[in-house]
Amino acid sequence: TWTNEEIIDEQVRAIRKQVGDKQVICGLSGGVDSAVAAALVHKAVGDQLTCVFVDHGLLRAGEAEQVEQDYVAATGIKLKVVDATDRFLDALAGVTDPEQKRKIVGREFIRVFEQAAREVAAEHDVEFLVQGTLYPDVVESGGGTGTANIKSHHNVGGLPEDLKFTLIEPLRTLFKDEVRAIGTALGLPEEIVQRHPFPGPGLSIRIIGEVTRDRLEVLRAADRIAREELTAAGLDRQIWQVPVVLLADVRSVGVQGDGRTYGHPIVLRPVSSEDAMTADWSRLSYDVLARISTRITNEVPEVNRVVLDITSKPPGTIEWE
Ligand code: XMP
Repeated sequence: TWTNEEIIDEQVRAIRKQVGDKQVICGLSGGVDSAVAAALVHKAVGDQLTCVFVDHGLLRAGEAEQVEQDYVAATGIKLKVVDATDRFLDALAGVTDPEQKRKIVGREFIRVFEQAAREVAAEHDVEFLVQGTLYPDVVESGGGTGTANIKSHHNVGGLPEDLKFTLIEPLRTLFKDEVRAIGTALGLPEEIVQRHPFPGPGLSIRIIGEVTRDRLEVLRAADRIAREELTAAGLDRQIWQVPVVLLADVRSVGVQGDGRTYGHPIVLRPVSSEDAMTADWSRLSYDVLARISTRITNEVPEVNRVVLDITSKPPGTIEWE
């Protein structure tokens, strides 16, 4: 078995050999895989790498800043940020169907990334594209079946013919825990390296109903509280992920502050899992659940009810949409 340092050295050598003096581009999503892949390539070829972060406006509280500030501070990577929030929200206006949301986010993402890649390529003559493909992704796309394929995953590229790059996939032989260990060895921020899985379409599939700016704000506030309390309770490592879902088209009556309210329920969906193909609902302590519930209903005026999802997968998928 290899140490992290040996894996890093080996990858750095291989990337240098492959890239030579050419230019490289990499899309950052806010997730672990692209962050570690880019950091490895940066260690190998420095400023020959330009990263692009498309902010689709569907990330959770603080996540865009994590990429734009913390990640850049930790790595010194050259980053081009595209704030495409308006474009994504315009495209999602009026849409309630989950697969439709996925298609729209995937389509807009490719368009915005393509435009940014063209700009970078025009400046630098880019030849390589970094992707954070992991070993399980390689196996799965080699004909794997399973429940995860029920929902269309948009992460795999679809760039036009005239914008074809040679792929660099430095994580192709690695599992998630190995990628995390390498990220840590490379000095990446803990919040990025230990981040739970988060879907490409982001919060758009955690708002049950139409996605609007106001609804995103409500969901972000509730989600931030849930994550803060789970972290404070030291539970991040035990839990696979915790979708926080806004039932935006459901209203429920409550009494808050001065009187009767007519707000929305928030669903907590903490799950334990090995690989997301199957999952069980996490038996969180009542104390932690109580703190989350109290804080959300106190601090987020639009929410007057917090409910817990106690469904395993199957039959319930991890995400609600
Ligand atoms: P489900 O909801 O199918 O989710 O049980 C399984 C895992 O996949 C994530 N997920 C997605 N990831 N694009 C993604 O990149 C998607 O459209 C998508 N849908 C679900 C989900 O968060 C869980 O980890």
